[in-house]
Amino acid sequence: MVLSLLRAKDQGDQWDSAKIASDDSTQVVYQGKPLESGRTYYWKVRWWDKEDRASAYSSAATFEVGLLDRDDWKAQWIGGANQLRTEFELAQAPVRARAYVSGLGYYELRINGAKVGANVLDPAWTTYSKRVLYSTYDVTGMLTSGRNAVGVMLGQGWYGKRALLVQIEIELAGGKQVAVRSSPAWKAKNGPITSDSTYDGEAYDARLETPGWDRAGFDDSGWAAAEAVEAPKGELSAQMLPAIQVVDTLVPVNMWTPHPGIYVFDFGQNFSGWAQLRVRGPSGAQVRMRFAELLYDNGTINRDNIERAKSRDTYTLKGDGVETWEPRFTYHGFRYVEVTGFPGAPGLDSLRGRVVHSAVEPTGSFVASKQILNQIQRLIHWGQLSNLFGIPTDCDQRNERQGWMGDAHVTAEEAMLNFDMAAFYSNFVRDMRDAQQPDGEISDTVPHIYGSYPADPAWGTAYPQIVWYMWQQYGDRRVLEENFDNLKKYVEFLRTRAPANVLTYSYYGDWVAIEPTPGALVSDFFFDYDVQILAHIAKVLGKADDAATYLKLDTDIREGFNKKFFNPDTGSYSTGTQTANLLPLFLDIPPEKARGGVTWRLTTDIVYTHNTHVTTGFIGVKYLLPVLTRFGRSDLAYELATQTTYPSWGFMIARGATTLWELWQDKTGPAMNSHNHAMFGSLGAWFYQALGGIAQPDDGAGYRHLRIDPQVVEDLRWVSASVETVRGRVSTSWSRSPGRVTLEVTIPPNSDAKVYIPQEEQMTDVTIYEGDRVIWERGQFVPGTPGVTAGVKGHDDFIFDVGSGHYSFRLAGE
Ligand code: BGC
Repeated sequence: MVLSLLRAKDQGDQWDSAKIASDDSTQVVYQGKPLESGRTYYWKVRWWDKEDRASAYSSAATFEVGLLDRDDWKAQWIGGANQLRTEFELAQAPVRARAYVSGLGYYELRINGAKVGANVLDPAWTTYSKRVLYSTYDVTGMLTSGRNAVGVMLGQGWYGKRALLVQIEIELAGGKQVAVRSSPAWKAKNGPITSDSTYDGEAYDARLETPGWDRAGFDDSGWAAAEAVEAPKGELSAQMLPAIQVVDTLVPVNMWTPHPGIYVFDFGQNFSGWAQLRVRGPSGAQVRMRFAELLYDNGTINRDNIERAKSRDTYTLKGDGVETWEPRFTYHGFRYVEVTGFPGAPGLDSLRGRVVHSAVEPTGSFVASKQILNQIQRLIHWGQLSNLFGIPTDCDQRNERQGWMGDAHVTAEEAMLNFDMAAFYSNFVRDMRDAQQPDGEISDTVPHIYGSYPADPAWGTAYPQIVWYMWQQYGDRRVLEENFDNLKKYVEFLRTRAPANVLTYSYYGDWVAIEPTPGALVSDFFFDYDVQILAHIAKVLGKADDAATYLKLDTDIREGFNKKFFNPDTGSYSTGTQTANLLPLFLDIPPEKARGGVTWRLTTDIVYTHNTHVTTGFIGVKYLLPVLTRFGRSDLAYELATQTTYPSWGFMIARGATTLWELWQDKTGPAMNSHNHAMFGSLGAWFYQALGGIAQPDDGAGYRHLRIDPQVVEDLRWVSASVETVRGRVSTSWSRSPGRVTLEVTIPPNSDAKVYIPQEEQMTDVTIYEGDRVIWERGQFVPGTPGVTAGVKGHDDFIFDVGSGHYSFRLAGE
């Protein structure tokens, strides 16, 4: 492969990798000349196949470098009001212009009367004392020759106050540079947003609008001078994760009037965002919108579970024809909107639902013959997306919406299969590093507001877990390199809290479980898991001493775990709950001879004690289905996944859930019971890996090697799954009918796979085809089919080694 990085479109002066004989087609690190601040670079690539045939060059792709040095920033942080503006003159239209902007908590940047870009609630929330993100916009086409105006609206967001930094770098023909920078020479005035708060909503008085304020020629003589404000302490970093955006617009499916003057709109779907209002009426009329996930029986909205969030937007009309408005600096989690104060009677077209979250691209798809699995997959999608707001949040509706680390790690694998999370989690991993204390401890929430330092070990584990998932899913070695020392510090911190190598401190344990498991066991499990991850990373990075140290520690922790929690009299761990037994099984902690017994106790508890139901909280359930699959009980995992009575995912669906709940119970009391938490969606990873069979070997990374082993269970007739991996698309599609199993598989370039073709029980006289060719007959592999290099008979399947390409396997037997 050859990579060449060009300064100008066709001039390879930055880097020419030359021809490299390697099948490393991803994560190739740049080794050319240093990159310069603010520049655009172009690159293209060509490759040679195994016959040494060269491809043509790709067309040029592009990327741009942010402002690399603090000194590149000449603008000043300003504030003093929630609207700021300036005007400037350009001798000609620019040939290139970039706006670099950070506005805390949130900003809306406008140039010559139009909003710049599609980002909302920008920039992503970070630990502002450590890091502040800025966005870069190409504004070339928004500026004109002559007078130009810049206007900015500011909201408080998570910063709790308002501050703006803008720098527009403009290049005119002939190379002349012009810069526009925020400074106290700008003008300031409080605008129509009279209050804004993430939890409480926004109030907007359209009578206070000053039309034309974001255009040139506006008379701002009545405006005050902007104030220089204290700069946030954190380092300025380019925002490199997908921004929060309005990604969809929903129409209400129903509207009713529980009391005169009170209108309730139903969007038919719980989601994160806000409502856009269309209204006509007299100046000063005030429309109030209150948001809810639930209803009372009488059709009014039930807001008990949003706790202390006021979650309400208020619009005061200017009285000027049809007015269309939506808030800028708040968001809500809701399905229902109660509208009061509406002049006249609203119709379904008076509201639109604006679906808002970090705009990550979908990368996975999973569909199965069993309808309930598709319904759960849908809940996972909505639940996951509603909880991506620059950070992964726990919920989107009540006065929380925090980066709870426990929720973050149990959902991470599912999220990475369903969406392109590479940039999002790269940023979040950095957030976690920013939240780490000098002694290595980390917080329950990142950025830290709720919860404690040090984190519950089942929450803090998000740091090693997510780094490790990143390695597995994206094969990004740099994420390991960048975090190794900090992860080691974290593990060493835990060690200081673990006398005799048993870590027992815990706050939440197997949170929201039906049968609680002692928190000490959960914490100690994650202590071992963290140490194992660290040992693996050390191995990947070639740090042999560290690998040996942490493998030894791993052995000691297991020994301590078994001593402390295994009860030889009962053959179970601790109290014998599902979680107590399944967690040690997941890490192979039980000694070989006890493993069968522990597995038996786990499955007995599920099947007989609980009539095939889960009793775990959100920690245990992440590992439950994978453990059952690993121990040959995919059938039971499937029965749990498709269960419809309480407690189960199906129970939520039966009760009308459109997103995943926080609790297994359908509790409608005032206490904690959000109806949009992502964490029970962790089974989504099992959908892809077990039912779709898209997985990697234990030490796999970046889909270099695949293990395609779909679980053909019970009444499941077919599954189709695909994932856009870093190496390209992996897909599987299987179906079965009596005497026949088909499996279509796509393996991306430079990858290979072991493909497990299951047979129905008791099939004899099996013949397997790939396309028209026979690859297995009379108990033997038949060589000669391109790409299929070997085949053996497994226990209840046939295992073939294949290279990249598309395969159609068909197994026929009697
Ligand atoms: C959150 C959870 C979180 C937990 C910590 C709750 O309020 O919503 O999802 O992990 O606190 O115990």
